Amino acid sequence: MSKFINSASRQFILAIFVYIVLTPALVDGRRISNGVNKSIIKTIKVDNDEIIDCYDIFKQPSLDHPSLRNHTIQLRPSVYPKNTKLDNPGTLQLTQTWHKYGTCPHGTIPIRRNVRKHYDSTLFRKQRRPKPFHNKKPNTLQSNEDSEIHEWATIKMHGSFIGAQAKINLWNPMVESSSEMSVSQIWVRAGPYNELNTIEAGWTVDPFYFNDSQTRFFIMWTGDGYKHGCVNLLCPGFVQTSSDIGLGCNFTEMSTFNGDQKDATFSIHKDQNSGNWWVQLQGISLGYYPSSIFNRLSKTADGVDFGGEITNARSNGIHTTTQMGSGHYPSEGGLGISSYFSHVQVITENNEVIDNPENVQLYISNPYCYDLKVDEKRTNGYSFYYGGSGYNDKCQQ
Ligand SMILES: *[C@@H]1O[C@H](CO)[C@@H](O)[C@H](O)[C@H]1NC(C)=O
Ligand SMILES: *[C@@H]1O[C@H](CO)[C@@H](O)[C@H](O)[C@H]1NC(C)=O
Ligand SMILES: *[C@@H]1O[C@H](CO)[C@@H](O)[C@H](O)[C@H]1NC(C)=O
Ligand SMILES: *[C@@H]1O[C@H](CO)[C@@H](O)[C@H](O)[C@H]1NC(C)=O
Repeated sequence: MSKFINSASRQFILAIFVYIVLTPALVDGRRISNGVNKSIIKTIKVDNDEIIDCYDIFKQPSLDHPSLRNHTIQLRPSVYPKNTKLDNPGTLQLTQTWHKYGTCPHGTIPIRRNVRKHYDSTLFRKQRRPKPFHNKKPNTLQSNEDSEIHEWATIKMHGSFIGAQAKINLWNPMVESSSEMSVSQIWVRAGPYNELNTIEAGWTVDPFYFNDSQTRFFIMWTGDGYKHGCVNLLCPGFVQTSSDIGLGCNFTEMSTFNGDQKDATFSIHKDQNSGNWWVQLQGISLGYYPSSIFNRLSKTADGVDFGGEITNARSNGIHTTTQMGSGHYPSEGGLGISSYFSHVQVITENNEVIDNPENVQLYISNPYCYDLKVDEKRTNGYSFYYGGSGYNDKCQQ
């Protein structure tokens, strides 16, 4: 009799054990077996606004692009440009903040969870598509397009290129309104305005996408003059391979006025064997835009640009106070005062790196608002200072 009770209670205890310990696991098992979550191998929480999911590299959302249905992922570039300065990364030690909270396992890629969920191409056009140019003054552009006024302080080079790279000084410019942005970046482009193909990489302060004022790493592409395309991984296209670098993540350190300067090396380079346009940060290959998503950049670029861009929403009926670069003009001073690009390099069709680019055009929409000055000393390769504070006595409209 006692033997029977013992066995029954043992079964009862075992049943409770199974219920308590295994039920949540079964629920979890069911939850992670559907849809997107099957691709997420690990989640890293930085804080409430910053969550990184480590996706199985072969199940990343970008592969949903129609032209990438049968895509075979290239895990690393097959060639590097000759004479490249990738052995010379910027002054950042730990590249991105989230590394302090965990790492994504080998075979996975970090994807920052989107703050802005209802992303679509109308929003992309409104913010990113510069109004078409009808004369040289961007502030007198025709206003039939529902988009912000864009302003630039950049250098431009024309020619057949397959890459561009530079060290960009890292700053945290103030952005006035939540529909504006301030970026410092590299453009690789091909085609006329309406069909423009671009690949862009750099840093941005962009409350519109990120709902905060932090300086973040970003990339962007369009295949049709900014009618479609996107920032980071908000639409399919970019195939990521790195488990170390997260798009839209912030940097660990920023430069301070008259203090320590931080910079990072950004690079865009076409692997001519595969046709893929690789993006690198600090010499780390992040991933690539396949040639097949472009019509023009499926071949070489016909130009590259470097510098700053802002959008001016004129929220108070006057020119925005949104800053570019450090918020200080090159005329106020160089290192530690205004922001810089150094070791500006372009890569020719023959995969040769050009250290001292020629035929450089300055493209400054209004030097009283944002300016750019080439550093003639060239102590750090081809370099320039750029930026400004926006609204002032001479920058009103
Ligand atoms: C996927 O996982 C996240 C967090 O782990 C959860 O919030 C979300 O509801 C899950 N999605 C699905 C479709 O189960
Ligand atoms: C992918 O492969 C299938 C079967 O081989 C083929 O029918 C389809 O056209 C391919 N799709 C693309 C985009 O290449
Ligand atoms: C933006 O951030 C604020 C707080 O900083 C928050 O209340 C708001 O919900 C966020 N908006 C979105 C779209 O996440
Ligand atoms: C990066 O983001 C984290 C988390 O939001 C924040 O604590 C940190 O101050 C940021 N770093 C910089 C340099 O802005």
